[in-house]
Amino acid sequence: MNASSYQTRPAIENLQDSQIVDVWKMGFTVPDVVGLWVGEGDLPTTKFICDAAAEALAEGKTFYTYKRGIPELRQALIDYHRSLYNVELTEDRIAVTSSGMNAMMLIVQSLIGAGDNMVCVTPVWPNIFRAVEIMGGEPRQVAMTGDGDGWHLDLDKLFAACDGRTRAIYVATPGNPTGWVMPEEQRRALLDFCRKRRIALIADEVYNRLIYNKPVAPSFLELATPDDPVFVVNSFSKTWAMTGWRMGWMVMPRSALTQIERLIEFNTSGGQPFLQAACVKAITDGEEWVKWMVARCKSGRDLVLERLSVMNRVRVIPADASFYLMLQVEELGKDEGAALDFCKRLVVEGKVGLAPGTAFGAGGEGYLRLCYAQSNDRLSVAMDRFEGFLRKS
Ligand SMILES: Cc1ncc(COP(=O)(O)O)c(C=O)c1O
Repeated sequence: MNASSYQTRPAIENLQDSQIVDVWKMGFTVPDVVGLWVGEGDLPTTKFICDAAAEALAEGKTFYTYKRGIPELRQALIDYHRSLYNVELTEDRIAVTSSGMNAMMLIVQSLIGAGDNMVCVTPVWPNIFRAVEIMGGEPRQVAMTGDGDGWHLDLDKLFAACDGRTRAIYVATPGNPTGWVMPEEQRRALLDFCRKRRIALIADEVYNRLIYNKPVAPSFLELATPDDPVFVVNSFSKTWAMTGWRMGWMVMPRSALTQIERLIEFNTSGGQPFLQAACVKAITDGEEWVKWMVARCKSGRDLVLERLSVMNRVRVIPADASFYLMLQVEELGKDEGAALDFCKRLVVEGKVGLAPGTAFGAGGEGYLRLCYAQSNDRLSVAMDRFEGFLRKS
């Protein structure tokens, strides 16, 4: 790191870089790697969505626009949630954001100050920890455990981790990297706890459509009233294969409107209207495509599970949602750095990219995360290579 010629905030200097990106960057120097490390698939955004963006650009939709998103998109999101969950949202509870990550950051900015803490269910996509640290807060981790039945959260442990400086609890359901879906009785108990303790609940539901044993994952929106302290984060990235667009949204409590709108003004001053026009199209005309994409992911998941099931040294934690699986390789152990070293060797020697479980916080030790949102052909190649690598190592 270069020493700077000016004084900077230690909180930012000390932020930990992503271990997923560490391994991913190594892959740039290795030709022909099958990368299953990052949280996205191998498909570009489908044509009708791209065409809608091009049309909107040609029509001159290039000006500053509404902070919380164009009214057509907010209305489309209201209709979308009604059709998924039979809930009636109002436009003042919706903010279109410049990605799911941006929605998370805005919420964290509105809740966390120096000395506050946020309790996070882990293992989980680690950017939420960094968002809290940027604000001078403390991310607290409550680890789930995995076994042959899936992942399990001890709610008492989660509640015990909260204190008088806890401003929020963050839970991703379905989860990344686990694919865990929070059971209904836990969702109800958590919401009750947050109500009583006046703690905000951040429900990250960006994988809500990627579920293989139900039409849609359950949402906290089905339980919460407009005045409950519940923020739901969502994104166009995963469901519509739009990771590079950086488009997302949040549903917030009625009382958060002014604060979130202010924060949008001072972060991005609102999103791109031509991208938002394409998002309207994705939501209103995209259902057939989403069905196809979910079926493709399910087929990828089943292929990977079948191949891994005959690899003696591998144990997989089953999951019915998201597009990830967490696996353990015998002898890998839970030592600091073991999974990262394994992933680095696997890239160079085996030409397969996985992410180390340690990248996702407590509970991820000893695991490797695999993203199966790829064609069956590529997944088969990855599995052949992984099997060959295990045999040699
Ligand atoms: C759990 C979770 N939340 C939020 C995001 C952010 O998605 P994006 O910023 O691409 O909208 C991701 C991306 O991997 C994620 O896995």
